[in-house]
Amino acid sequence: MKDLISLAIETSCDETSAAVLKNGREVLSNIIMSQIDIHKKFGGVVPEVASRNHVKDINPVIIEALEKASIGFNDLDFVSVTYGPGLVGALLIGLSSAKALAYALDIPLVGVHHIEGHIAGNYIAHKDLEPPFICLVVSGGHTHLVKVEDYGKYEILGKTRDDAAGEAYDKVARSLGLGYPGGPLIDKLAKEGDKSAIKFPRTYLDDSYDFSFSGLKSAVLNYLNSMKMKEEEINRADVAASFQEAVIEVLSNKAIRAAKEFSMTKIAIAGGVSANSALRERLTIMAKENNLEFYYPPMELCTDNAAMIGSAGYYEYIRGYKSDLNLNAKPSLRL
Ligand code: KG4
Ligand code: ZN
Repeated sequence: MKDLISLAIETSCDETSAAVLKNGREVLSNIIMSQIDIHKKFGGVVPEVASRNHVKDINPVIIEALEKASIGFNDLDFVSVTYGPGLVGALLIGLSSAKALAYALDIPLVGVHHIEGHIAGNYIAHKDLEPPFICLVVSGGHTHLVKVEDYGKYEILGKTRDDAAGEAYDKVARSLGLGYPGGPLIDKLAKEGDKSAIKFPRTYLDDSYDFSFSGLKSAVLNYLNSMKMKEEEINRADVAASFQEAVIEVLSNKAIRAAKEFSMTKIAIAGGVSANSALRERLTIMAKENNLEFYYPPMELCTDNAAMIGSAGYYEYIRGYKSDLNLNAKPSLRL
């Protein structure tokens, strides 16, 4: 089969990203313009500010992705783009650019679900990975336990009923005065703390594969407030380590249980929180104990990027799926 060259675009939150892919797994370029430094001073992503920066950055990022890959517009076979879920104003910038290119170049447009993109980050990192497998998608906006039955075919086994795992990290980090985004900061600080110092609650929700992190978040806030009231010194590293242990224990146990229940031999993680060192270490050990192959993406493919969208888009495209040019942004799109 002829090689398929595609451009991929991702603007669902605070990263403006464009990538060029050869077929589904070979990344020729993956340009990521992060707005983290801009949103840091607000303690989180400000949607209107994100949209304005996407507008400013999208064209230079696309041009850079093509130049770095030594690819011209006329070499492109199709364009993949995230159309949901995400911030509507942010999504619209990437989607409008992708539509304009598809129309002007007369090539197909492939709308991609953002979570499907995160899962596909593993296809780029691990050339041998094929479905079926269990994938734990943990990011700032999502916590999904997914049975990946085939390319583009998913069964959602469970998801969060309140906060996403990354959201809990970010909120707890804020209450510890660590800054934004909280995940990497807690990850680092936790290395200096004792994970069994404070017994925070683990929410298992019986046999369900759903998650809940708001109780844990409140427990951390209550702990911090009661220590302040008692004028006792707070060991922030112990709080970070104990909070992190409560999160990764539930995430890892549920993911392994799902793999065993559905007789899977492979397990993967994806999304921003999959960059977490403690989660990776725990699942490496648990996967080995349970005879499972464990896959995780390199850091740059964990957080938002267009290459993962391009990989997911490729598998949609070769299955014959193409989007209409009046495709709209869907902030709450379901998998
Ligand atoms: O996938 P992503 O870039 O954006 C969304 O789709 O949400 O994920 C961002 C989230 C943030 O909540 C951030 O705090 C978290 O991923 N994160 C981490 C780590 N690195 C990023 N959480 C825990 N440990 C990390 N090392
Ligand atoms: Zn994401």
